[in-house]
Amino acid sequence: MTPAIASALHIIGIAMVCTFLTLRLIALRRHDVPGTRLADNGNGIGSVLLLGAGFWRLFAELEKPLAFYTENPIFWTKVGALIALGTLEMYLQYVVLPWHFRHARKQTIEPRPGQFERMFKLAVLQLPCILVVIVCAAFMSRGLGLPTAPAPPPSTLPGQAVYLTYCQTCHQPDGRGLGGKVAGDFVGDPAILAKPDGVLLDTIARGTSGRIGTMPPWGSVLSHAQQRDVLAYLRATFGAQP
Ligand code: HEC
Repeated sequence: MTPAIASALHIIGIAMVCTFLTLRLIALRRHDVPGTRLADNGNGIGSVLLLGAGFWRLFAELEKPLAFYTENPIFWTKVGALIALGTLEMYLQYVVLPWHFRHARKQTIEPRPGQFERMFKLAVLQLPCILVVIVCAAFMSRGLGLPTAPAPPPSTLPGQAVYLTYCQTCHQPDGRGLGGKVAGDFVGDPAILAKPDGVLLDTIARGTSGRIGTMPPWGSVLSHAQQRDVLAYLRATFGAQP
């Protein structure tokens, strides 16, 4: 439930930022100071939600281990776009915030000639940044960008389909979890599959959290039969070969 709430807050934040950035563009175009003030307040709340929920998801490892992101160049592209967005925003606020204060005190506002137009151009530059952020987020959530390991030998076990769908984004096709950086390394750490079925099935159902990061629980996603199938696949494919 917690990851779902954090994800919802994150998406609401994105929606608010997109909406209010657009409203601010309109206000800047119309030389409308109360309009930019309203838009900036909305943007402020949206950004707190977006970044707050974002950092929460990232560092509390609600859904994916931290390395799932830090090992991915798409993540750093997203961070770069966010930094560009923030830098543009700081300059915009440096100019616009004094207008807001003067407006709040009912003082007259005298922007220098061309200032609205310049701010409008800067605000337009923020749109491609937002676009990059959203595209990166969508790509990452589908597991793109992580270096993929070579595929394992084909298997006829029913657990393979489960593994490919639910496990391999983190554990990787070769079961090594990118050298144990993103998820448990079934091949390199034989101690994992040496554990008895009962223990491993329990971990799969309830998830686990350890040195590498957090694995989400699968008990409510997979049936008992699927959980047993996927474990059989792990043992047959990545376990110590007799
Ligand atoms: C979001 C990433 C992610 C996904 C998806 C994922 N795992 Fe994991 N898994 C992890 C991490 C991280 C660990 C290691 C936790 C630690 O010890 O730090 C792990 C550990 C394990 C372990 C070893 C537990 C132990 O006793 O050491 C098993 C078994 C396992 N996963 C099975 C699965 C199966 C089966 C699936 C698919 C149904 C799956 N995992 C999907 C991240 C993931």
